[in-house]
Amino acid sequence: MRKQAYIHTLGCQMNVYDSDQMNNRLQAAGYEQAKSMEAADLVILNTCAIREKAQQKAFSFLGRLAALKRKKPGLIIGVGGCVAQQEGEKILERMPHLDFVFGTHAAARLPGIIQLVTSEKRRVVDTEMSEIIDAYESTRALSEISKPTRFVTIMRGCENYCAYCVVPYVRGSEVSRDPRDILAEIRDLVAAGVREVTLLGQNVNSYGMKERLCPFPELLKKVNEIDGLQRIRFTTSHPKDLSEDLMRAFTELDKLCNHIHLPVQSGSNLILERMNRKYTREIYLKKVERLRHYRPDIAITSDFIVGFPGETADDFKKTLDMIREVEYDGLFAFKYSDRPQAPAVKMTPKVPEATKLKRLQRLLDVQGRIGIRKNKALVGSVREILVDGLSKKKVELGRADGADRVQWTGRTTTNKIVNFSPGEGAETKISDYTGVLVQVEIKRAFPHSLWGRPVPAEPTAPNVKGENCFAA
Ligand code: SAH
Ligand code: SF4
Ligand code: F3S
Repeated sequence: MRKQAYIHTLGCQMNVYDSDQMNNRLQAAGYEQAKSMEAADLVILNTCAIREKAQQKAFSFLGRLAALKRKKPGLIIGVGGCVAQQEGEKILERMPHLDFVFGTHAAARLPGIIQLVTSEKRRVVDTEMSEIIDAYESTRALSEISKPTRFVTIMRGCENYCAYCVVPYVRGSEVSRDPRDILAEIRDLVAAGVREVTLLGQNVNSYGMKERLCPFPELLKKVNEIDGLQRIRFTTSHPKDLSEDLMRAFTELDKLCNHIHLPVQSGSNLILERMNRKYTREIYLKKVERLRHYRPDIAITSDFIVGFPGETADDFKKTLDMIREVEYDGLFAFKYSDRPQAPAVKMTPKVPEATKLKRLQRLLDVQGRIGIRKNKALVGSVREILVDGLSKKKVELGRADGADRVQWTGRTTTNKIVNFSPGEGAETKISDYTGVLVQVEIKRAFPHSLWGRPVPAEPTAPNVKGENCFAA
């Protein structure tokens, strides 16, 4: 039997992609993906350091692995990702049950590291960084490919040095992948049944600039030409680099989804300046206006930080005003968290934890009302959704006699989650819907999702092969 490897992923979408890369390399090194952590001979935790809490989560997960290692002394445990890059050998000093630590540029070296650990019985630390981007490998062969949507990293690192952020230190300077590699990988994924790709980078708008590769809107145009691909998304866009060409792409490219994630962080110019974001509230609002000029119904989402050092009640009020003015379709909000490597750690005055919490709740409250109002406005309309698969909630497999017992889930082009049940008496086989575009009439609105019925009851757009590649 082949050795079993289990990778647990914390953090952002880039880590999800990196874990795919690791799995791919482990397969080549003779491992197969374990069904559970308990069944594994090798466990890897891919970590995130973006906030103190994320880092704590990584350490508590690693701490719990000590018990597993006691039960199974031959178990090999490795730590990768952003905490690994940041902490290096300190992690091994702190946790004697761990075998190796590898940084954010070391995924390609994973088989060699494991070889050292197993054959030489050594503990290994590899946090070396390089200016050259790894040749990423197509993850087409992975068994977990039975998803119609996938992430594809197009660039690594970040050079924006926002004052609060650890990413430039743990991911290194910005490097873009060759467009030919990106296109080849997407074609490969589409051939394996993928219908939607999300292009990933910390600031996709500056894709290729340093290396003088094709500009990001050009790359999008080429991705748009790939036969069989139905939807394209990208994230994240830094507002300072959001060009008119990119905004125009939303009218020109038929596969580009009608959604942009445009993190603003704060509505106060004073705070934006201290954060080193390099745009003002006015510039940001102008870009929102231009986006809506090109696509009046575009969905806009954002990230906010509350309680950045020096944030006053008045600064926070400006943030709330911004949310009301833009009327976001959704947002992520975080309490500011000191990162030891980022310059804001030295900025004062710090906002008390209780104030941060109050501001966070207030912000979510304001957005909650906007979100539900926007979702309610969709009730009665018919939306096209790409079906991800069976919804985890309320599903009773094997009891497809009553159609409402089976619920499917997918997203609109505006990235809203829509769950639907086919209705009494309708056919409800898995092969009916996964990876298929379905027209759904929205019947109910919730704060973070919608619910409806397909129109007509059968899927209207079979995928390009005229059959469902995800049939169970
Ligand atoms: N590259 C993206 C963001 C990546 S990090 C961008 O420029 O927008 C994702 C989000 O985490 C950020 O948008 C920010 O809102 C949040 N974040 C980053 N560092 C943080 C910190 N120290 N404390 C709290 N939130 C933070
Ligand atoms: Fe961090 Fe700023 Fe880079 Fe985003 S753009 S990853 S927030 S430094
Ligand atoms: Fe976290 Fe690293 Fe992503 S810090 S957010 S996993 S780039």
